Order: sequence, then C-alpha cells, then structure tokens
Amino acid sequence: MAETAKIEFNGHSFGLPVLSGSVGPDVLDIRDLHAECGIFTYDPGFTSTAACRSKITYIDGDEGVLLHAGYPIDQLAEQSSFMEVAYLLLNGELPGAAALDKFSSTITRHTMLHEQLIQFYRGFRRDAHPMAIMCGVVGALSAFYHDSTDISDGYQRMVASHRLIAKMPTIAAMAYKYSLGQPFMYPDNSLSYVGNFLRMTFGVPPEPYVVDPIVERAMDRIFILHADHEQNASTSTVRLASSSGANPFACIAAGIACLWGPAHGGANEAALNMLRQIGKPERIPEYIARAKDKDDPFRLMGFGHRVYKNYDPRAKVMQATAAEVLDKLGVDDPVFDVARELEQIALKDEYFIEKKLYPNVDFYSGVILSAIGFPTTMFTALFALARTTGWVAQWNEMISDPEQKIGRPRQLYTGPAQRDYVPVEQR
Ligand code: SDX
Repeated sequence: MAETAKIEFNGHSFGLPVLSGSVGPDVLDIRDLHAECGIFTYDPGFTSTAACRSKITYIDGDEGVLLHAGYPIDQLAEQSSFMEVAYLLLNGELPGAAALDKFSSTITRHTMLHEQLIQFYRGFRRDAHPMAIMCGVVGALSAFYHDSTDISDGYQRMVASHRLIAKMPTIAAMAYKYSLGQPFMYPDNSLSYVGNFLRMTFGVPPEPYVVDPIVERAMDRIFILHADHEQNASTSTVRLASSSGANPFACIAAGIACLWGPAHGGANEAALNMLRQIGKPERIPEYIARAKDKDDPFRLMGFGHRVYKNYDPRAKVMQATAAEVLDKLGVDDPVFDVARELEQIALKDEYFIEKKLYPNVDFYSGVILSAIGFPTTMFTALFALARTTGWVAQWNEMISDPEQKIGRPRQLYTGPAQRDYVPVEQR
C-alpha cells in the first residue's frame, strides 16, 4: 500500500500518494493536486521534480554514482564498448555475443546518408558551427526517411532508432570535413563504429587511413561516458518534443539544440577555451577569484552540476583516460597541467567546498579530444553523437509509457489582471 503525504491548505486536509522506485528518493504524486485544491507546485529548473518513471539510468548525486540499468559507469567504461552500452540502454540488459554482433551489424548498415543530403551541407557557410549543421541536418532527416517516422509503429521506431545512432557519426564527420573544404568520406563497413567515425573524420580519399587502436579505444570510452545521463536538459527536451507526437528526427534535433548551450553540452568547448585562456598555473588564482565574484558572470566551465554534489564519476574516468592517451600519443599539452592544478586549487577552496562544486564530465574531455586532433568547435557535436543513444533510448521508453501524455507545465502568473482595451487616442 503506497504511503500518503498529508497536505493542509486553505482549511482543507487531503493526502497525496507517495510512490517508491527501486532505488533513490520517493516521489510525491501531485497529479491530482490542482484538481483537489486549486494550486500548482512551483519548481523553475525542476530541481525537485520527477517528470517520468525510467529504468535506463540512475544517478546518486551525493555519492557520485552513475548506473546504466544497474551497471556502474566506471565498469562499463573499463570493460564494455559503446555499441554494447547502446544495446544496454535500448534493451535494459547486456547482450550475448550473437545479439551484440547482430546489433552492431544492423547499425553498420545504416551509416550511409541519403546522397541528396550532401546538397543540404552545401547551403551552409564553411565556418558554420558544427552544432548548427547537426541541428539542421538531423531535423532534415525527417524529409528523407518517411518510412520510419510513424511513432505508433514499433518497427518504424526501431528503424528510426538504428538510423539515428548509425548516422550521427557520418553527419558529424561530414560537418568537420565541410569546415575544412575536404571531400566527404563514405562509411567503411569493415570498421568498428568508432573506427569508421575516425576514418570519415580524419581520412582522405587519396590514401588509406589506419585506425590508431589507442585513439579508437579512447573515443569509444568517451562515447560511453556521454551516452546517457537520466533526465538532463537535452533529454527532457527530447521527451517534451516527442510528447506532442513529433517524429523522432525532429525530437533528436530539438535535443541537439538544447545540448549546444554552454551550461550543458557546450561546456566541453567552453572549458577547453577557458583552460587555454588561463594558459599557465600562475594565472589560476585570478580565474578562481572571478568564478567566486558575484558581479562577474564568469563561471569555471566544466565545474559544478545540478545533480552531482560530489565528484562526477565520469570526470574521474575522463581524467585517467586523458593521462593515458596523452602519454601514449606522446602529447605534452600544458592545458592538461593547468586543468589538474585548477582542480586541486578549486577543491581546496571554501567557495567550491561550500557549494559542492566538482569537475564534471566536460572538464577533462576537451584535453583528450584536442590531443586526438579535434577542433574545440567539434567537441559538443561529439557529445551529441554519443548522447543520441541515450536520447533514443529515453524516447522509446517515453512512447511506451502509458502514464506519459503531452507535456504542458503551468505557471505562477504575475502579469496584469483583466482590463479593458484603451483606444490609442486615449493613451
Ligand atoms: C552537463 O544535467 C546533466 O546531467 C548534464 C550533463 C549530462 O551528462 O547531460 O551532466 C552534462 O551539462 C554538465 C554541466 C556542464 N556545465 C558546465 O560545466 C557549466 C558550468 N557549470 C554551471 O553553470 C552550473 O554548475 C550548472 C549549470 C552545471 C548547474 O547549475 P545549477 O544546478 O542550476 O546550480 P546553480 O547555477 O544554481 O549554482 C549553485 C551555486 C550558485 O551560487 P549561488 O547563486 O548559490 O551563490 O553555485 C555557483 C552558482 O553561482 N556555481 C558556480 C559554478 N557552478 C555553480 N560558480 C562558479 N563556477 C561554476 N562552474
């Protein structure tokens, strides 16, 4: 029997059911609150609001825990692969060898883009931000793949899911090639998901491209760390867009647009630019002071999190991966030293301790991506590439959830009460 919470308001007393999940905080079911007592709850930023039931990802922000279908992110990053994690997010269980092979080969066969989309790229300026291209091209997929836009058809939802996961590397690589004025590289089905992406990005037609296993493993791990993260802003955007019945390509394009913001997925680009701006450890105190100054809009990019009030477990793996990759690639980037020094100083500073600000997933990722050869403008596009798997899994879960309906929040109105129109000659 569910517990109830007693509410006393305006001389009335009534109970609201308390719902429990498998782990984590209980929730107060307020669906009947307005009908019962004519009031709304108020929660801008949704700091205390659960928008859905979900089995996909669990985060304990106080303990710094991130689980995908119960599996800790550090174990997945160390022992799994991005394709296997994609399968896990979509199906809730780790695949057997045969199932993984079937899933990977299905994804592989969806990596090509409709040839006419190449014309779509030609409409952009060469210096267009890759995220502007990603928003446009992914939204445009609904103009080309009509046979997988009917969300009431489970088969079409599956095909759209596979197409989105498969085509994001091709779309992202083409955005990079377009910015360079180099020819697009077609997918090579003999390569892994990540190997194919690296070849489409850094390969050129006149010569063979050999995938570096160190880089391939690092990118695979980076994609795992970015795959899904519960009901973050861009995932909630995808869910809200799909609640109106919009097609999957349009919903993922909405998620890409939201992820672009510097407070969210755009933080990896902003963090590396910030670290480069700091330049050397001696200048760190100046930036720490700015981050603490209420009158200065500057924030330490890659620091802080709505949910993690402890160290982001992804940042721990990312820092270790950065050290390993830079060492193996023989890259000595002073920015990495600045990042580690900045972390040490910030974590001892009263302001960051009191506000529980720790490095997040975006703090170290740029160091690795830069060492591999990506420009900072590509960082958020890579985040979107990996997060598409989580968005697609959450989208499927939402559509299959009988409790879900069109998302339509209310408000606390603070504007004028009703008044009569005043003709212009009387104003
Ligand atoms: C991602 O939600 C997810 O799961 C997102 C993500 C995912 O995988 O999907 O994890 C990916 O988006 C990671 C976060 C990337 N963003 C950044 O690194 C940008 C810098 N960080 C922030 O802007 C901020 O920390 C947020 C946006 C991440 C979280 O903001 P909140 O939860 O709304 O917290 P807040 O802005 O209310 O900050 C609380 C206090 C404030 O001070 P007071 O007003 O209480 O005095 O902490 C301060 C803030 O000023 N603060 C910072 C800070 N982050 C928060 N001060 C300096 N530097 C910072 N980075």
